[in-house]
Amino acid sequence: MLLSGVRDLADKKRHSAHVIVCGNEKGGSGKSTTAMHIAVALLKSGYRVATVDLDGRQLSLTRYVENRRRWARTARLTLAIPQHFHVPPARRDSVADAESEEFRQLTDGLGDIESSHDFVVVDTPGSDSFLNRLAHRIADTLVTPMNDSFIDFDVLARIDPVSHEIIEHSQYAIAVRDARRERRQADNSILDWVVVRNRMSSITSRNEQKIDSCLKNLAMQLGFRLADGISERVMFREFFPIGLTALDDFEEHVLNSKPTLSHLAARQEIRQLLSALRLPTDEYGRKRAEARRAYAEAVARPIALPDIFAN
Ligand SMILES: Nc1ncnc2c1ncn2[C@@H]1O[C@H](COP(=O)(O)OP(=O)(O)OP(=O)(O)O)[C@@H](O)[C@H]1O
Ligand SMILES: [Mg+2]
Repeated sequence: MLLSGVRDLADKKRHSAHVIVCGNEKGGSGKSTTAMHIAVALLKSGYRVATVDLDGRQLSLTRYVENRRRWARTARLTLAIPQHFHVPPARRDSVADAESEEFRQLTDGLGDIESSHDFVVVDTPGSDSFLNRLAHRIADTLVTPMNDSFIDFDVLARIDPVSHEIIEHSQYAIAVRDARRERRQADNSILDWVVVRNRMSSITSRNEQKIDSCLKNLAMQLGFRLADGISERVMFREFFPIGLTALDDFEEHVLNSKPTLSHLAARQEIRQLLSALRLPTDEYGRKRAEARRAYAEAVARPIALPDIFAN
């Protein structure tokens, strides 16, 4: 079901919207917050953006978008809002029926938006599920936020407590590797995986330096790129109820408080993240997308690997 489903979806989405999936099986790593910030950053750059919430239990991204719509009305603001849909968990007698239903809901939803939008940003649950696996297989770019702690690192790999050498790759890293392989089989597309450290403290501790060096090591083994991190900031929590992001205007009547230096620093961090994603928005991103397409189309003709993973 999964591979044939991926093939159908991959066929449909070829030459349509670029799909960015925020994923990490670790709960609370910042997937929903990152998804909303990426979506608003792209909207504010003039792109047509849709958002999809596959976390049908928590619906955090759905609430974030609703809060934004409500705040725009209440405060009489013109806020760019993505077209949004969510896929609720299907309740059926058999697992196969439930998966078919969820697959249909996602396919129908994407069918309505993918050709009319430049980007689709997908938020996923912090658990392994059929929809989550499917999302990782249709992604063009996978963004994995992870908290700056070895507990979060453990989702990617187990390390030796003394030498900090990587002992083995963990469940989620293996799941991404499998997703990449299946997508490659389905339509020869290459998933660009970017890991971003979230909730970083302003003081760099020895622990953080160790995580940084372990991540750099792991990046080479697993083939992901490492973006500069996002700091721990109260504003990321405070913005949710009014649906704002670090990219929105910081006038007092918008924020309901005076903007601080932290607001500006947060905005800068999100901009850096966007540029690290190298999406097909600027000249460099477009070249990479073109190279990926050329690679995917050269089915029988092996060509030199394009510059996808290298920094
Ligand atoms: N950089 C940050 N600074 C401060 N708080 C943050 C930051 N990023 C996320 N948070 C807060 O951390 C919590 C978890 O974030 P979020 O809901 O985005 O994670 P998630 O990965 O989507 O979680 P889940 O797996 O439960 O869906 C939220 O309360 C959010 O407001
Ligand atoms: Mg979430």
